[in-house]
Amino acid sequence: MGDEWRRYLAQQAELGGAEVILGAPAAAPTASGADQEPRWKRGAPPIPGPGLVVLSPAPVLLGNDLGALPTLDAVAERIRTTYCCDLCPNRTNAVPGEGNPRARLFLVGEGPGATEDATGRPFVGQAGQLLDTILEAIDVPRSLVYITNIVKCRPPQNRKPLPDEIAACIPYLHRQLELVAPKVILAMGGTAGEAMLGVRKSLGDLRGKVHTFNGIPLVVTYHPAALLRNPNWKKPTWDDVRIARQLLDR
Ligand code: URA
Ligand code: URA
Repeated sequence: MGDEWRRYLAQQAELGGAEVILGAPAAAPTASGADQEPRWKRGAPPIPGPGLVVLSPAPVLLGNDLGALPTLDAVAERIRTTYCCDLCPNRTNAVPGEGNPRARLFLVGEGPGATEDATGRPFVGQAGQLLDTILEAIDVPRSLVYITNIVKCRPPQNRKPLPDEIAACIPYLHRQLELVAPKVILAMGGTAGEAMLGVRKSLGDLRGKVHTFNGIPLVVTYHPAALLRNPNWKKPTWDDVRIARQLLDR
């Protein structure tokens, strides 16, 4: 129990700001308890106005009709057993993505890092631990979401994926989105936001709006790895994820 508390307090410090009250014991159920707002709702920003509108392109890759792959497992198997760009031959493991096939919240990162390449699982390194904390803070357990990346193989030295690599790999993401059909998409980081929306814009321009991808509301925020480097971005990220959380309830 003591350890759990220490972890919680560390996470609280990690997210920054007194507004994030992670790990405070759940209020004892009272007669009025059912009416109490969840913590993430207190001081949450209003849902912002509309941003860009993008139609999903047909998920076609290298002449293979990805649209014919009937399940997320079939897509993952295709990713693991084929090469689509120059990143693929250098992978230890492809990282197709994982999570709840019926997720209402769909998370998109940039690309696998070292831990992800070693394990074949998305967001399991340091950034992944921070992501877990963020999800806990909005009362969305990781078991309920789907998590994947723009590119499924680790770029060397964790550099940003190149436009060609993104173009080659993103049809997998489009098919995964079709299969999950989430209610809300959260793009984490500029690479994910730009690739999903097909634009070149700063993260500052992309966040703070509700874009629409193939009819699905899409929120762009900072990448958890960026938060580890720049704590000033934690507050805007906390606002963004609370917007995404409100969209889930809408
Ligand atoms: N609740 C769900 O059921 N699924 C999600 O993805 C998020 C919240
Ligand atoms: N960073 C990402 O963008 N994706 C991962 O899966 C892990 C770290």
